[in-house]
Amino acid sequence: MFKKILTHILFINALIVLAVVLFLQYAVVPAIPQSVFSFYVIALILGLILFVTSTSKNLEEFWQPIEVLLTNDKLIVLRWLVLLTIPAVLAFYIGLSMLPSNQAPLELRVVHPAPPGEIIFNGKTISMRDVVNPFRAYETSDPEKFTEHVELGRKVYYENCHFCHGDFLDGKGTFANALDPKPANFQDVGTIAQLQETYVFWRIAKGGPGLPAESMPWQSAMPAWEGILSEEDIWDVTLFLYKATNHPPRTWE
Ligand code: HEC
Repeated sequence: MFKKILTHILFINALIVLAVVLFLQYAVVPAIPQSVFSFYVIALILGLILFVTSTSKNLEEFWQPIEVLLTNDKLIVLRWLVLLTIPAVLAFYIGLSMLPSNQAPLELRVVHPAPPGEIIFNGKTISMRDVVNPFRAYETSDPEKFTEHVELGRKVYYENCHFCHGDFLDGKGTFANALDPKPANFQDVGTIAQLQETYVFWRIAKGGPGLPAESMPWQSAMPAWEGILSEEDIWDVTLFLYKATNHPPRTWE
């Protein structure tokens, strides 16, 4: 009887699935992403289905215990046990997977995703290709006016941004330690120095919620400032970020 169970096609198939799932989940280092895991398991199950259905003898042997379980009235207790255990185990795992976790996901976060072609800011369409910072031209044409706008931007920054991005624009604000991903360090050449002003405008206007899916696995705490700051405020603070860090903004040239 025992040997019959151990060599039964249903038992062997279940064992293979279990072994492969456990192996992929716990023995493969470094761990593989969930999507690759699902792909392997689905491929395995498809293979096993092909095998089981390849001959009618296999198929009959596979279904026979299931049929007995479902129809034999002597097994009514076992039947209910199995029928209740399957959804209970599934519910348990789904519950587990929905628990909040503070672990960084395996997928890498795209820090600078491609921006949308245009954005709608307070009902106005702003093209990411054609629009430039309207106050940038003052840098050469009217330095006094330029400084005025930089100072306005400084005000915007120290009223709204330094809590996270830091007094010295180095990403070390009071809240920074509690955040993952960390607030951008504007002094570092890896942030605004690589970006165009329109890109920076988009990031300030739409914040973390405006990021496309590839930047999503890590929830960004960067607020969306649309509705709080005006268009001018955002262009001003952008001028200030570049001026205070001495980085020139990136341009199409
Ligand atoms: C609650 C904290 C917080 C506040 C307040 C905040 N930011 Fe951020 N900011 C972040 C975090 C975290 C990131 C990094 C994640 C991301 O890119 O969304 C970020 C990213 C950015 C970026 C993108 C930099 C890059 O390299 O892509 C810009 C630009 C920016 N912030 C500007 C501002 C400005 C301007 C203000 C004030 C008006 C501001 N932030 C206020 C948390 C904050």
